[in-house]
Amino acid sequence: MNSESLMSAAYLGAIVLFILSLGGFSKQETAIRGNMFGIAGMSLAMMTTILGLGSNWTVSGMVCLVVALAIGGPIGFIAAKKIEMTQMPELVALMHSLVGLAAVLIGLISYYASAAKANSTEEGIHLIEIYIGILIGAVTLSGSLIAFGKLSGKISGKPWLIPGRHGLNLAGLFLVLALGIWFVLSDSKMVGTIPMLLMLATSLAFGIHLVIAIGGADMPVVVSMLNSYSGWAASATGFMLSNDLLIVTGALVGSSGAILSYIMCEAMNRRFFSVIAGGFGSDAGATSTKSTPEMLGEVASVSVREAMALMSDAKRVIIVPGYGLAVARAQHSICEITNLLRERGVDVRFAIHPVAGRMPGHMNVLLAEAKVPYDIVFEMDEINGLFPNTDVALVIGANDIVNPAAQEDPNSQIAGMPVLEVWKAETSIVLKRSMASGYAGVDNPLFYKENNRMLFGDAKKMLDEILNILRHSSSKTGAA
Ligand code: TAP
Repeated sequence: MNSESLMSAAYLGAIVLFILSLGGFSKQETAIRGNMFGIAGMSLAMMTTILGLGSNWTVSGMVCLVVALAIGGPIGFIAAKKIEMTQMPELVALMHSLVGLAAVLIGLISYYASAAKANSTEEGIHLIEIYIGILIGAVTLSGSLIAFGKLSGKISGKPWLIPGRHGLNLAGLFLVLALGIWFVLSDSKMVGTIPMLLMLATSLAFGIHLVIAIGGADMPVVVSMLNSYSGWAASATGFMLSNDLLIVTGALVGSSGAILSYIMCEAMNRRFFSVIAGGFGSDAGATSTKSTPEMLGEVASVSVREAMALMSDAKRVIIVPGYGLAVARAQHSICEITNLLRERGVDVRFAIHPVAGRMPGHMNVLLAEAKVPYDIVFEMDEINGLFPNTDVALVIGANDIVNPAAQEDPNSQIAGMPVLEVWKAETSIVLKRSMASGYAGVDNPLFYKENNRMLFGDAKKMLDEILNILRHSSSKTGAA
């Protein structure tokens, strides 16, 4: 077997490992195995690429590689160690921007470094690859940087709507197509540079415009959409470098990101194209739910002891975790409370909303970390029907995902978004620090419902207090 066939075989092995990795991520039970497959696949791919350079090795190339590994490796390691789980979406957005930057730089290098190819068809195809690679890379780069700014709070989360934005996007698309024809037909690199740079500027502006117009609760879809773009950017890079591994891996990331975006749109009852068209969160027709008569009602609060009593006297309890649980790092406390309640014969289940928290699977990861048994964790569709037969629904640091306005107020900004119907339980308890709204900035009529109780305070502090009382009463019962 010659070295080229060996490389192809190793790349094929890496591709299989990546597919097994994605398969592993589809279930909580197999997610760790999926991660291991991913690490093995990436290690194999990197080793093969480095060793496969063979006769193309140069001293300067070697120095660049070592310097890149020496800088990139520690940065990645420190970032992964330091970053909080709640900051993960911003880190992911930043990483996507690097994939976009790499695609742009490789496109530029491929253009200037490549000699004219043997025949004009081949040359034309190579130019199209370069053009598409730079285009997708630039949109991913600027879009991801804006998403990073929005998610980290460095840029306002509100949508910025330029008048006539849809017309502007369409004009941009036609401009990019026209520039593409000019680029491919240019007879010298000097002439080709003009349409290429104009397209680069247009694509960067398009990426900014695309993401800056999206606000409120639509950001999760944008994050997974940019994930998909970064995959296609990597795939385009693979075409430019004639690297099969990059082409296939990029396509895997691109398609899985697109499928995830679709699933999220379904979960939020949003049409994919209306999310992309932007503007969510500031529709002129949409009104705040502040003034509904229901909201003028009273808010009933409970003490830690009362909340604990409601739960331990219940037959069935459903716990709804949200972003606040992650911020407070209260997953271990709620897991211990769950164990104690179950020991007392209470049927405890967890209800997971597909966009709870700040990233896909956020709550599943938290609960898995705290070792909450998988068989009591249910997805929204599986558990929504059970609320009417539930004594207590405990909402911890969640807001938008349990907002009845999504069903009851057609003018609400989140109208139509599927939510967990906690208000159908006999009693709902909402644990949060104040009456403040959630990520979408929409007020929540749940807090004013007659069967709702507010437990005000930090999730960790309150749950630890509940845990102490429960432990104390359990040990008393045990002693008696
Ligand atoms: P949110 O609607 O953001 O509500 C979280 C609530 O947690 C806040 O109202 C806050 O109220 C409370 N909170 C914060 N810190 C707390 C603490 N230490 N202790 C107790 N409570 C605390 O969260 P959600 O219900 O999970 O909904 C998720 C939202 O994020 C959706 O709008 C979704 O579209 C969006 N989003 C999701 C993703 C993904 S992919 N999951 C990505 C980006 C955005 P107080 O300040 O009063 O405590």
